[in-house]
Formats: sequence, C-alpha cells, structure tokens
Amino acid sequence: MRAQRSQVAVVGAGPSGLLLSHLLAAADVESVVLESRSEEHVAARVRAGILEHSTVQLLTDAGLAGRLRAQGDEHRGIHLQWPHERHHVDFVDLTGRSVWVYGQTEVQKDLVDAARARGQDVRHEVADVALHDLAGDHPHVTFTDASGNPQRLDVDAVVGCDGAFGPGRAAVPEAVRSSWSRTYPYSWLGILADVPPSTDELIYAWHPDGFAMHSMRSATVSRLYLQVPNGTDVADWPDDRVWDALATRLGHGQDGWELTPGPVTGKSVLPMRSYVQTPMRHGRLFLAGDAAHTVPPTGAKGLNLAVADVALLAPALAALLREGNPALADAYSDTALRRVWRCTHFSWWMTTMLHTSGDPFDEQLQLSQLRWVATSEAGAAGLAENYAGLPIGF
Ligand code: FAD
Ligand code: DHB
Repeated sequence: MRAQRSQVAVVGAGPSGLLLSHLLAAADVESVVLESRSEEHVAARVRAGILEHSTVQLLTDAGLAGRLRAQGDEHRGIHLQWPHERHHVDFVDLTGRSVWVYGQTEVQKDLVDAARARGQDVRHEVADVALHDLAGDHPHVTFTDASGNPQRLDVDAVVGCDGAFGPGRAAVPEAVRSSWSRTYPYSWLGILADVPPSTDELIYAWHPDGFAMHSMRSATVSRLYLQVPNGTDVADWPDDRVWDALATRLGHGQDGWELTPGPVTGKSVLPMRSYVQTPMRHGRLFLAGDAAHTVPPTGAKGLNLAVADVALLAPALAALLREGNPALADAYSDTALRRVWRCTHFSWWMTTMLHTSGDPFDEQLQLSQLRWVATSEAGAAGLAENYAGLPIGF
C-alpha cells in the first residue's frame, strides 16, 4: 500500500468538496479530493438551479463567478400562484437581495476548471474509501485508486463532502450522533426541455392536482417540476402527459398566459426528504453539505447550504492547521447548524405550503397562508429573506 501525506482529505468532488478544496488552497492549506464517480458523471448530474445572494457573493470573492455573472440570469423574485391568481414576490424590494439562475452543472464546471487551473489533486473513480483514527490528531484515509491499487493518505483533518450516501455521515460514532428526518408523501417529476421559458422569473404554483414549478436554465432551456406520488415510474409519464399536467397546474390560458411545450431532453423522479445529523464535527472529522443534511428541493436551499458550510469550514480549518487555533473549528458545528435548521424549516415550510396532501382542511390553510405571503408585505418579507438567503454566519 502506497502512503502519502496531505493536510486535508476531502471525500467527494461535488460542489461542497471542490469549493472547499479551492478555498483551502487560497488559504495555503493543501488537500486531496477523493471521488468515487467519474468526472463526467459528476459533471452531468442535473440538480439545483438557484444561487442565493450570499452564494453569488462568496463565488465572486473566491474568483469563481466570471461565467456566472456573464451567463447567469439575475432574478428579482418569484411568482407565487394558485388557481386564478398570480403574485410577484419581489426580493429586491423587500430585502435588497436578488437570486441568480445558474445550474449546478455550470457551478460544477467552473469548480472543475478552477481545480485544474491550480493543479488541485482530485482523484476520480476511487473505491473503498474508509476513514480511520478520527478521534486523534493524525487521521488517515484508505482507498483503492482508479487503477485498482490500495492507497493510504495521512492527514490532519478529514472532511466528508460525500453527500447523503457516502461514508462521512456514518463515521460519526452512533453514541455521539443524533439525527432528525422527515419523509414526505410525494415526489417531484422533473423535466429539462429545449424550449425558451414561458416566464421571466420562476413560478411556484399550488393546484388541487398538486404542486408545479416553472424554472429555467437559460434563454433556450426550461426546467419544470410536477408533484407526483411516491414510487412514480417515469415510464407512466410520457411527454404529452407531463406538458398537459403542467399546463393545467401552471394556469395555461389564464389572463392570456401560455405555457409553450418543447422537446424534453431529460426526465427523472426525485424523492423528498428532510434530514439533519449532528454534530457536524467529531474529532478531526468534519461534515459539510448533503453529508450532514438534506432538504426537500422546494426552497432551493440544498446547494446554497452546502456552499455556506464550506464558507465557514475553510477559515476554521486554516486557523486550526496553520496557526494551531481551534476556536473556529470548535465552533463550526454549532455555527453551521444555526443556518442548517433555518433552511430546514424554510424548506419544510415551502414544501408543506405548496404540495397538496388530499386533506381539505389543510388545503384551506395552505390557500390562506399563500394569500397572506403573496399579498402582505410582512408575509412576503419572511419568504423573501429566507429565499434570497440569510448571511452565511446567520
Ligand atoms: P453532492 O453533490 O451529493 O456530492 C457528493 C459527492 O460525493 C458526489 O460526487 C458523490 O459521488 C461523492 N461520493 C459519495 N460517496 C462517496 C464515496 N464513498 N467515496 C468518494 N466519493 C463519494 N437542490 C436544490 O436546491 N434544487 C434542486 O432542484 C435539487 N435537485 C436535486 C436533485 C437530486 C437528484 C439530488 C440528489 C439533489 C438535488 N438538490 C437540489 C440538492 C443539491 O443538489 C445538493 O444539496 C448539493 O449537490 C449538495 O452538494 P454536496 O457537494 O454536499 O453533495
Ligand atoms: C430549481 C429547483 C428548485 O428546487 C427550486 O426551488 C427552484 C429551482 C431548478 O432546478 O431550477
């Protein structure tokens, strides 16, 4: 087994892992990123689409926002609607902050380009990643490299940026970890379509048939979602059925608004879950992003929360490893969890306000709440502040 050394082992080359390695390098901390999938596989995963204000600020400060600012689309707010009514919630007017439409695939591409440009050590297609001696000051990671050779990496800290199914979460001993979760009784069917968006800004629509959303990726690519039952098979949703349901739920024909259908280039079903695991640090193991928490997608928080975690973690690791100052590292879990729980609540709130569950009493409460949020400045400001994003250290 070949033994190597670095300061930090980062498990996972998704957005949290690659951004962390970038921020660490900028702070003169060396890291190796270990990823089980191929670079092409990670790059092709279609996921989040909305970057909140502080994410854009952080990427800008890190020198990673050139393409985002040139090709992304800045939005002032969202449209919130229910049958016969559509209201614009203007985040800029309400909070002074905007959001940007820029796909996670594009963020990932920018992070990969930046990693390549600075010669970052990112190893794809590794297997059997196992984390050892996390309670002491000298942890190590073992893995099998892409050629099938066993490897050992000795480090000062290990960061699990390995999503909901990686080894990071489980490496916090059961005796010290707590978790909270909620599984929702519905899923999203998402499509990507080669058609210009039929709306200027995102539409979030409550409808008796179920939630629908109209998002986008560019001036020529639309991204749309439908609430569907858990266990839905995409084979039961041919393109015509998807467009018909979207037209009904999004209000095609109302007040002259029309949904333009187009060729569907991708279709998948996404289950919805809330999950939080604490603490986000155990000894020399730190968790960031989906490794520590999952939110249902309705509030567009998953990617933004991952970015906020590593924005806190990078300076904490730099202080610990370069100056021997543990204060920020010791505070990391509690500080990050304040925002995690805020976003967990907001994502749950958006989800339960907009998805139908078949209970007629709940439906009336949802409609009452939607009207309040869309038409009262106090109600709208709460949604706007959470959606456009609270400060990183909230
Ligand atoms: P990930 O992006 O999951 O990255 C983790 C990485 O770790 C992966 O590349 C994985 O291959 C790697 N890994 C896992 N196990 C190992 C191992 N054993 N060894 C080495 N590497 C490993 N958020 C939104 O805001 N809006 C959306 O519409 C939306 N859609 C989503 C759709 C899907 C299908 C999923 C799964 C998530 C979606 N999210 C969405 C959430 C958002 O994409 C995530 O919050 C975000 O990707 C978190 O980034 P991350 O780097 O923490 O985790
Ligand atoms: C997108 C996904 C979301 O979950 C959301 O709330 C807004 C937009 C998207 O994929 O574009």
